[in-house]
Amino acid sequence: MHCKQTFPEGIADMARIQITGGVPLRGEVWISGAKNAVLPIMVASLLGEEPSRISNVPHLQDVTTTMELLGRMGAELSLDEKMQIEIDPRGIDRFEAPYDLVKTMRASILVLGPLVARFGRARVALPGGCAIGSRPVNLHLHGLQQLGANVAVRNGNIEASADRLRGARIVLDTVTVTGTENILMAATLAQGTSIIENAAQEPEVVDLANFLVSMGAKIEGAGTNTITVEGVDSLNGTDYSVLPDRIETGTYLIACAMTGGRLRCTRARPGHLDAVLDKLSEAGADISLGEDWIEMDMGGRRPRSVDITTAPYPAFPTDMQAQFTALNSIAEGTGVITETVFENRFMHVQELQRLGADIQVKGNTAIIRGVPRLTGAPIMATDLRASASLVLAGLVADGVTTVDRVYHIDRGYEVIEEKLSQIGARIRRISET
Ligand code: EPU
Repeated sequence: MHCKQTFPEGIADMARIQITGGVPLRGEVWISGAKNAVLPIMVASLLGEEPSRISNVPHLQDVTTTMELLGRMGAELSLDEKMQIEIDPRGIDRFEAPYDLVKTMRASILVLGPLVARFGRARVALPGGCAIGSRPVNLHLHGLQQLGANVAVRNGNIEASADRLRGARIVLDTVTVTGTENILMAATLAQGTSIIENAAQEPEVVDLANFLVSMGAKIEGAGTNTITVEGVDSLNGTDYSVLPDRIETGTYLIACAMTGGRLRCTRARPGHLDAVLDKLSEAGADISLGEDWIEMDMGGRRPRSVDITTAPYPAFPTDMQAQFTALNSIAEGTGVITETVFENRFMHVQELQRLGADIQVKGNTAIIRGVPRLTGAPIMATDLRASASLVLAGLVADGVTTVDRVYHIDRGYEVIEEKLSQIGARIRRISET
């Protein structure tokens, strides 16, 4: 593997983020490429007969992990100073995603479909439990079986093999984002037509489909609940720029709403944030949009509580639930948040309570009575979006809040402390223990 990667190593584990709350955020923040689009896109480059170049790649720990994963398989990777990654899949000779990588990044499961479609075999460690829910992968496996793969779980590994996959009609029981992506990637090289019903409609699925189409795949219907794929014999390499991260965008907008500030997000894709922007308007924000920017003015006002129910796109995203829980914690009134996608995604609640939030969790519902002030305290991140909500709470808490286990944030938010300090936050990373 020739991997000219420039990521800092080792610092992430010990780092904490320290925030002194109380500053209304003002200014401009640029939005990075989407984590949940770049990961499947990097993996999809395995399907090609030639190298692919991917730009607008965010500088994230999960990107580093994916590079490591593809590199260990024998792909050649290079990364330039503009974070453009070139992936050359021609040297791939190990068809495996080992447990030490899968356990740090569940999205490693995405190599399963491409490996079995392109190389006829794959061994991928079965992901275990997760902080936000049990997160089974049965639908990924069942879909690949329907495409003709032999799939078995042995010694903690998923083992899949096939001569050539065959097109099939696959009806997903539950809407699954990475499940749809795995099956979609596999179907591009299957013989004949595949139809994926009840497919995920997330913009990241559409971005992956666009990437595959630019490699020569024949795909229709991405972004609707029925995706049709006409299998081709081979795919070429391509050049592709990843779409902006809607969850990162939403997180900065909430930071602005909570602090009563005024913010412009640039290099964004407003059309992917309808449900989130509706809730921010309901919370009292003035919002204006252009093709690739969003401006929000909170005018120093305290936000109003909002009720939210998470569901697959285009409904309200589960990946924004924790951040709105933080907003409701300091909002006027009572907000009810219902989480329908993952069964255990309220781990941030106990930490927010340490800052003085008034939240009651009953089953999959959190009832949040807004308090006028939170007070700073040491708190601990448990997963990526939970940790973002803790940073948001720290921005409005009186005094100092220290968020431990920052490596969760680094998986999905590019230079979060730099972006927040640029818009006025008093935030810094402490790297020593
Ligand atoms: N599910 C099954 N069986 C399966 C697959 C999923 O029952 O085989 C269930 C899950 O347990 C869950 C629901 O289906 O209850 C939806 O899960 P989904 O498969 O859509 O989640 P995912 O593909 O594992 C992606 C994102 C998550 C995001 C969810 C939901 C990536 C790499 N991850 O996960 O992102 O929360 O979709 O939108 O795309 C994050 O970025 O912080 C994150 C967790």
